[in-house]
Amino acid sequence: MQRLALNSLAPVLFALVAAVAQDASGSGTCMGDCDLHPSLLERVTKDVAWLDEAGGITDAMIRNISLVCDAQIKHQCNVKVVRMMIKDGEIYLNSLHPDWRLGPPELIGFLLELYETSKMYRLPDLEFAYNGDDDASSPAFDWIDRSSLRVTFHGGPFPLLSWSKSNKSMAQLVPYSGAFRCTDDSFDNLLARLDEIRRLAWSEKRAVAFGRWNEFCAPYVYEMPALPSGETFVCPRRWLPTLSEQHGEAMDVGVIGETLRGQRVSAVPLMHQNAYKYLVSTDGWAISSKFDKYLLMGSAIIKAQSSRYGFYYDGLRPDEHYVAAMNTSREDILGVIDWLKSHDQEAERMALATQQFAVRHLHRNARLCYYQKLMKELGKRMKFTPDCSQRKLCLPLGRFLEYLSKKRETAHTCRYQEVFVRHGTGKGTPAYESFSDANIQELLVDAKYWPRDTDTPPLPNEPYFPGARRRLRRT
Ligand SMILES: *[C@@H]1O[C@H](CO)[C@@H](O)[C@H](O)[C@H]1NC(C)=O
Ligand SMILES: *[C@@H]1O[C@H](CO)[C@@H](O)[C@H](O)[C@H]1NC(C)=O
Ligand SMILES: *[C@@H]1O[C@H](CO)[C@@H](O)[C@H](O)[C@H]1NC(C)=O
Repeated sequence: MQRLALNSLAPVLFALVAAVAQDASGSGTCMGDCDLHPSLLERVTKDVAWLDEAGGITDAMIRNISLVCDAQIKHQCNVKVVRMMIKDGEIYLNSLHPDWRLGPPELIGFLLELYETSKMYRLPDLEFAYNGDDDASSPAFDWIDRSSLRVTFHGGPFPLLSWSKSNKSMAQLVPYSGAFRCTDDSFDNLLARLDEIRRLAWSEKRAVAFGRWNEFCAPYVYEMPALPSGETFVCPRRWLPTLSEQHGEAMDVGVIGETLRGQRVSAVPLMHQNAYKYLVSTDGWAISSKFDKYLLMGSAIIKAQSSRYGFYYDGLRPDEHYVAAMNTSREDILGVIDWLKSHDQEAERMALATQQFAVRHLHRNARLCYYQKLMKELGKRMKFTPDCSQRKLCLPLGRFLEYLSKKRETAHTCRYQEVFVRHGTGKGTPAYESFSDANIQELLVDAKYWPRDTDTPPLPNEPYFPGARRRLRRT
């Protein structure tokens, strides 16, 4: 009897505790729960290290971001970076994605999560850019020579937040917030259904390696070094389904919409993928948007090698949280599956350790904490005081998010209201009121809109970004 009463009280108590925590953090004080996994903290340190060598973030460095677009503003250059400012705790946009590019959750998820961070913590005065493109780290922002701080982009390196990168990139990693919080099968939604996911016992799962994806083989895949076996690296999203064709007893891995052993391959909701003991993850245009979610599934993860990584990947240890495939040879996954099958207890332990890692370190407050630490470290390196009077566009982020929440194409991209209800949009402030919906719409319809904040003339032609290529959605 007593247990029953306690159980039914638990949600009430939880809500109370959450409300108290909310109040305290809303007042700008860190509750002491902003406690990052050491590897994530180290990630922040590594990503900002070059700024110390460069002498910090200077006004000239920030102004040079305008040079990302040439005189003709071609090749969607204005999508590669969105310029932003934080001033007196408020976030502003200094450039925009054009109208046609708005809709996907990469940019909007980031904007909403950063906005929420700015309401939970006092963020320092700062200027930076964000790459919200679906490949997340353009080679234009790769080091040509790390020691002399030369990047491909002729305007030099600058602070650039991005959700995926390689060791060659100058960028600072941030969470893939869109996949974490926006989509129906977002990490946050799956985390809320953890009890349901865990209801399926390990012994009831099928001992098959399962994988589903769209076939995106990005150019970086072909730059991977040869495998220790001497074989060249091939695109995992194309190769592993081929292997699965011949090894049906061990693998059920296929490209959505294509055929596998005579059957059409259909997508399987993530909430059903926990039916398999082993889940195979491969990267697409950038890191897989599903990898974070696989970690929650209570399955052992087999991860194909990649040069791309996300903000928390350093915290994952091979053979403890996942097993690598396509790491010694093209076919090594078969040996990995055999090993997992014959070491069932170890596989189960790994699945549990992985799930624990995700539950402890990737929930929303942990992500906001990560954003806060990164912003703080960037703020320490600022060599000037940013000011809206020095920039052509200074659109308050709350104002822009409010606009997106009402626009047909973006109204359902993310759950804006859960942030607005708590923290507001800034409505009523002079900065907010200086932009009407019509003003914002007018800026967005110009696909070549690009506020230029530099006196250096643009190059006549865009030398970095390739011409039109695919415009498919990654998964
Ligand atoms: C800005 O770009 C110009 C033109 O390419 C370059 O010469 C200069 O070094 C850059 N400045 C910084 C601070 O990166
Ligand atoms: C990136 O560099 C680090 C340190 O030099 C290295 O340990 C790591 O394996 C590299 N990552 C990739 C994906 O190449
Ligand atoms: C990949 O294989 C090498 C041996 O060639 C091994 O040292 C390394 O730990 C493996 N990487 C992963 C992520 O398991």
